[in-house]
Amino acid sequence: LADVSTPQTLAGKKVLLTAGATFEAIDPVRGITNISSGQMGLALARACRAAGAEVTLIYGQVQAPIPAGLAQAVQAVSAEAMYAAVHRHIGRQDIFIAVAAVADYKVKNSHAQKLKKDLSGSPPLIELAENPDILASVAALPQPPFCVGFAAESERVLEYARIKRAKKNIPMLVANQVAQAMGKDSNQVTILDQHGETALPHMSKADTATAIVAHLAGLLV
Ligand code: CTP
Ligand code: CA
Repeated sequence: LADVSTPQTLAGKKVLLTAGATFEAIDPVRGITNISSGQMGLALARACRAAGAEVTLIYGQVQAPIPAGLAQAVQAVSAEAMYAAVHRHIGRQDIFIAVAAVADYKVKNSHAQKLKKDLSGSPPLIELAENPDILASVAALPQPPFCVGFAAESERVLEYARIKRAKKNIPMLVANQVAQAMGKDSNQVTILDQHGETALPHMSKADTATAIVAHLAGLLV
């Protein structure tokens, strides 16, 4: 059902989102992950839904409930699984919003059985291999949906974000400072697009998501 209190700015649009942290297994009980809680991605899924969109969510590890009323919600925990799930659904989408904190590297020599401390004389060596870049791969499709990316930076936020937007060739990028964003309930973001840079106030992730959706809808008209 439509949310009557929110302008239906994404009515008739199909939106695919990624959210949360990915997890790269070292062995059956251990892995490499990050501090993303999934809250920003889930808030955006909710905001897109409230704006009338048909929302498909691909999520990794999240520490908040999956919103109700989504067309589909699929868990994909490793970066490769998330890449595959996104490409299974991307064909029919109008908009792709990449919010997930995707591991840049996976464990090359992951073990099928639990590593045993007593059997190895020295600490095990963990070798890494590069993961596919999901957002860049979607943006490079022959007929890509409208792509929105996030940039999580710990320093030189806008400088790195500008480079990221150009390199991945995406029309809209949301930049945030990791210390202000990841694992927090609130956020302060700056939106970069063809017209320039828009700094939003520091506010709850729900309000940030509503403002991002309003900005996105404005770019689509
Ligand atoms: N992203 C993705 N797949 C990856 C890595 C990142 O889809 N394998 C997406 C994220 O969801 C985000 C954007 O790309 O929307 C930027 O992610 P970020 O980690 O900030 O940038 P990277 O390009 O990975 O660069 P770096 O980590 O070196 O800053
Ligand atoms: Ca990265």
